[in-house]
Amino acid sequence: MKFLASLAASTALLSAASATPYPHREEVAALVRRAFAANAPHGYTPQTVSCPSATPTIRSAARLSDNETAWLEVRRNATVQPMRDLLGRMNITGLDTNQYIDNHQNNASALPNIGIAASGGGYRAMLNGAGVIQAFDSRTPNSTAAGQLGGLLQAATYLSGLSGGSWLVGSLVSNNFTSISDILSQDTSADDSGSLWQLGNSIFEGPDTGGIQLVDSVGYYGDLVDQVHGKEDAGFNTTITDYWGRALSYQLINATDGGPAYTFSSIAQQDWFTSGSSPLPLIVSDGRSPGQTIISDNSTIYVFSPWELGSDDPTVYGFAPLQYVGTNFSSGSPSTDQCIVGFDSASYVMGTSSSLFNAILTTLQGVNTTSALASAFQDALESILSDIGQDNEDIADWVNPFRGYNNATNVNAPYNNLTLVDGGEDGQNIPLYPLIQPNRNVDVIFAIDSSADTTETSPANGSALNWPDGVSIVRTYERSLSDMANGTSFPAVPDINSFFNLGLNNRPTFFGCNASNTTSPTPLVVYLPNAPYVYYGNTSTYQMSYNDTERNAIILNAYNGATQGNASLDANWPACVGCAILSRSLDRTGTDVPDICNQCFSRYCWDGTTNSTAPGPYVPEFKISDAMVKVTSGASARFSGSVVMAVATAVVVGFAML
Ligand SMILES: *[C@@H]1O[C@H](CO)[C@@H](O)[C@H](O)[C@H]1NC(C)=O
Ligand SMILES: *[C@@H]1O[C@H](CO)[C@@H](O)[C@H](O)[C@H]1NC(C)=O
Ligand SMILES: *[C@@H]1O[C@H](CO)[C@@H](O)[C@H](O)[C@H]1NC(C)=O
Ligand SMILES: *[C@@H]1O[C@H](CO)[C@@H](O)[C@H](O)[C@H]1NC(C)=O
Ligand SMILES: *[C@@H]1O[C@H](CO)[C@@H](O)[C@H](O)[C@H]1NC(C)=O
Ligand SMILES: *[C@@H]1O[C@H](CO)[C@@H](O)[C@H](O)[C@H]1NC(C)=O
Ligand SMILES: *[C@@H]1O[C@H](CO)[C@@H](O)[C@H](O)[C@H]1NC(C)=O
Ligand SMILES: *[C@@H]1O[C@H](CO)[C@@H](O)[C@H](O)[C@H]1NC(C)=O
Ligand SMILES: *[C@@H]1O[C@H](CO)[C@@H](O)[C@H](O)[C@H]1NC(C)=O
Ligand SMILES: *[C@@H]1O[C@H](CO)[C@@H](O)[C@H](O)[C@H]1NC(C)=O
Ligand SMILES: *[C@@H]1O[C@H](CO)[C@@H](O)[C@H](O)[C@H]1NC(C)=O
Ligand SMILES: *[C@@H]1O[C@H](CO)[C@@H](O)[C@H](O)[C@H]1NC(C)=O
Repeated sequence: MKFLASLAASTALLSAASATPYPHREEVAALVRRAFAANAPHGYTPQTVSCPSATPTIRSAARLSDNETAWLEVRRNATVQPMRDLLGRMNITGLDTNQYIDNHQNNASALPNIGIAASGGGYRAMLNGAGVIQAFDSRTPNSTAAGQLGGLLQAATYLSGLSGGSWLVGSLVSNNFTSISDILSQDTSADDSGSLWQLGNSIFEGPDTGGIQLVDSVGYYGDLVDQVHGKEDAGFNTTITDYWGRALSYQLINATDGGPAYTFSSIAQQDWFTSGSSPLPLIVSDGRSPGQTIISDNSTIYVFSPWELGSDDPTVYGFAPLQYVGTNFSSGSPSTDQCIVGFDSASYVMGTSSSLFNAILTTLQGVNTTSALASAFQDALESILSDIGQDNEDIADWVNPFRGYNNATNVNAPYNNLTLVDGGEDGQNIPLYPLIQPNRNVDVIFAIDSSADTTETSPANGSALNWPDGVSIVRTYERSLSDMANGTSFPAVPDINSFFNLGLNNRPTFFGCNASNTTSPTPLVVYLPNAPYVYYGNTSTYQMSYNDTERNAIILNAYNGATQGNASLDANWPACVGCAILSRSLDRTGTDVPDICNQCFSRYCWDGTTNSTAPGPYVPEFKISDAMVKVTSGASARFSGSVVMAVATAVVVGFAML
């Protein structure tokens, strides 16, 4: 409903606006050129350059890239001390964790290899994921006190995100791996900062800075059109995803105009990254050709790292150097000696992973405006839609680096274009895919599920809306048994009815506790479903504006979920998280599992039983009611705004809800 209000507000703004030409902002952007703005001063427009002497090539997925292998050595070493500190605080009685780390620190690969995955689900998912990340981050004030989990982020090797989760991950790494606490405590009254995560203005209005809107809405639309036309005029196909990514970035990247020159590949050159001070960010997207539908068993899944774009699936089974994606590749090499750089805009990566939200932008199409600039924006949308059709509004058009590559299995091999869509469209709404690749040997995955699975057509009829029901990991499990598995392995999970009936979608649940049950290395999955601890964080996926109070309440709720109310719901919770982290490592090193861990596993592991009878309505109650947060202004948030949902369902029909 808020969405409608903001739409109305932006309509009013549009109508009232004059038709004076919008200012060109490149000059401003050039003044604040930064290390990360790799494509400055060209902004969003990709550039043609001579290919470097080490010719960029497409590599096979058989092994990890040399870049990742080299970086992992640095990162794994950097996780040793944070892991020692973390485990030391967890009170795992019966195991001297300091001694354990000391015994194995010369061989970091004997130690736990941790991944964290943040699901999709719009701003709800970004915020719910942020609360968990904040709880895991030792930079969060008090997060290393008793009962807390600060340091888990510093001990982790990988951090993946998809759709709304890609906004979280992408925003952190586009801002020098800043912390959630820093984002939330930024001084919004200062003139030159404080534009990050100001979700009070919807994507239709552009951000405020220092209490004054950075650009008026008309200037904002003008800038969007300007930026995307720059790319188009340089000869590249653009889609609504370009506009969507640019619009998003005003809230996610702390730079003038949302940092149009910021590229994702430039992360690989940042000091904080090369020194191994952060986990490896991985963003997930699906391949989908116009007119096709995809499900988990037949999608080809693509992953962005700071070095590469590619897929481990048996179809494409290759990776392209991200910095040069945009180049015309053929059979694994550039077709000419000219290469393209600057195509891999950080905003385009985030926009691609969340392209389902293009539907939100297209609603502006029907808005009556007398503003020439806003109508330039509408014209742009209209022209794209008439080219690709409304059913394909979610497409992001990438130049296909895999043309002529793996012709026999790669259905895209004949095409110049590679069309990518929202990473949740195949139903796997948690980005587990890059973390279950056998080459990565991940031991434990913290799977943050902020999906909105309980809908009007939920298996648990009459449920409260927008809570997860486990379907996302069911899809990942199914895929691990399909022809697309290609060596991946995922722990067994029960059917969705059992998730409801056994309460597995309402509390942390461990899957895959018994490693001897699996034939190939399988990570233990710590499933962390969104549930109400101190606030009802089940807002609609399509709620596009949040005031700071509600934003913070959702984050606080997730923080409490991650820490189980600072261990007030279970004094052993930190120890149990420690046991999950250590489980595979203890196996590897032949170390006895301490008693406390066995107690934890009998409490938190899914025991293999099912109850597939039709579940009753799922209406979860507060777990920590004395700390309940009341945000009255957010009360409308839990309506599933019928118009917005109608727009959305046009796209998601047949897919699990994000
Ligand atoms: C990645 O590895 C390649 C080959 O080893 C090297 O040429 C390139 O500079 C590396 N890229 C980065 C960003 O480190
Ligand atoms: C550690 O856990 C044991 C039980 O396993 C408990 O008796 C003890 O009080 C805990 N110590 C701390 C510092 O929490
Ligand atoms: C990682 O630590 C090991 C053991 O201390 C050491 O031998 C190795 O050189 C380190 N690697 C890097 C890249 O720092
Ligand atoms: C941190 O803990 C101290 C002491 O318990 C408390 O006074 C302070 O408010 C806490 N800070 C935060 C940000 O929770
Ligand atoms: C990231 O760090 C670099 C180098 O310290 C700095 O120039 C740049 O402004 C920072 N970027 C952001 C978005 O904070
Ligand atoms: C945003 O950028 C401003 C100016 O460079 C800086 O002062 C501020 O700390 C940044 N905010 C965050 C959360 O990184
Ligand atoms: C643009 O898309 C068309 C197909 O619609 C394709 O033939 C062409 O190669 C694409 N151009 C680029 C630069 O990707
Ligand atoms: C490339 O674009 C053409 C024309 O729009 C379309 O028919 C084709 O399906 C696209 N190819 C892929 C692999 O998406
Ligand atoms: C994937 O499977 C679905 C359901 O069987 C089917 O409708 C769709 O055409 C398939 N898509 C591809 C790309 O094979
Ligand atoms: C994965 O797929 C590739 C390409 O089809 C194949 O060469 C490879 O053997 C497969 N790996 C496994 C473990 O099945
Ligand atoms: C759009 O609004 C103007 C007045 O603001 C009105 O004159 C015009 O008829 C409207 N157009 C449509 C198509 O509704
Ligand atoms: C793959 O197909 C391209 C043409 O589409 C062709 O030039 C190339 O030789 C083929 N590669 C192989 C290994 O057959």
